Amino acid sequence: MTIQRVSTGIPGMDKILNGGFPKRNVVLLSGGPGTGKTIFAQQFLYGGLKKGEPGIYVALEEHPVQVRLNMAQFGWEVRHYEEKGKFAIVDAFTAGIGEAAKRERYVVRAVDDFPSIVDTIRAAVKDTGAERAVIDSVTTLYITKPAAARGMVMQLKRVLSGLGCTSILVSQVSVTERGFGGPGVEHAADGIIRLDLDEIAGSLYRSLIVWKMRGTSHSMRRHPFEITDEGIVVYSEKTLSLGRFGVEEGSVESVE
Ligand SMILES: Nc1ncnc2c1ncn2[C@@H]1O[C@H](COP(=O)(O)OP(=O)(O)OP(=O)(O)O)[C@@H](O)[C@H]1O
Ligand SMILES: [Mg+2]
Repeated sequence: MTIQRVSTGIPGMDKILNGGFPKRNVVLLSGGPGTGKTIFAQQFLYGGLKKGEPGIYVALEEHPVQVRLNMAQFGWEVRHYEEKGKFAIVDAFTAGIGEAAKRERYVVRAVDDFPSIVDTIRAAVKDTGAERAVIDSVTTLYITKPAAARGMVMQLKRVLSGLGCTSILVSQVSVTERGFGGPGVEHAADGIIRLDLDEIAGSLYRSLIVWKMRGTSHSMRRHPFEITDEGIVVYSEKTLSLGRFGVEEGSVESVE
């Protein structure tokens, strides 16, 4: 039986995943600050909207107004989709405080209360008929309670996957950390994609690697990518080699 796949909407990325995310997978998108996680996740949602697949974005890090502005910078205008009920931003950031927040439809009043976040997510997915969901970031949910991390991710997985969504959970790791967000969440997730930014000989290089993806084979190489005014472009034909002794002694090789 061939599995159903969901296009990532990111040039080059489907090739690395041999056709896209397996439908209903919950993918941990992990990386340090400024590595492109938010842009990747928003591009995935917008790619869905263009194909008629509704989506939701759960904002835990930024004001919904800022989210719309950031997306518009790449030409991803979501207002129209929100008005048609095909896209929703779940505001888990403002707690309903401020004038702008009063205009939001999905507001989590108690941002520290996980069950109420889940309830609001469930409502937004059902109302929009979302097939794609992004939580930016899950780290915010459990930063002060690491022991609860796995349980939270499992519950999100049950709800999102159960309602038919293919999801990206953004996971923040520190610049020096090698992991993806802790053992609990790493094993609970169906997939892990890691975005990196490495300094080599005085320049920063962006690359990504698919660490796991249940339900499919995938590239086992580290691929360079760029962020442009139109979003992320992944070079599926190229490999970035960071060298055995870390980035200081690493070398950049482009293999066509
Ligand atoms: N128009 C653009 N063209 C090229 N690069 C851009 C553009 N806009 C943003 N960037 C790059 O994207 C980075 C931000 O990416 P993004 O917000 O997705 O990071 P992030 O991984 O979500 O970080 P954090 O964990 O801090 O939220 C910026 O630091 C900048 O380098
Ligand atoms: Mg971000």
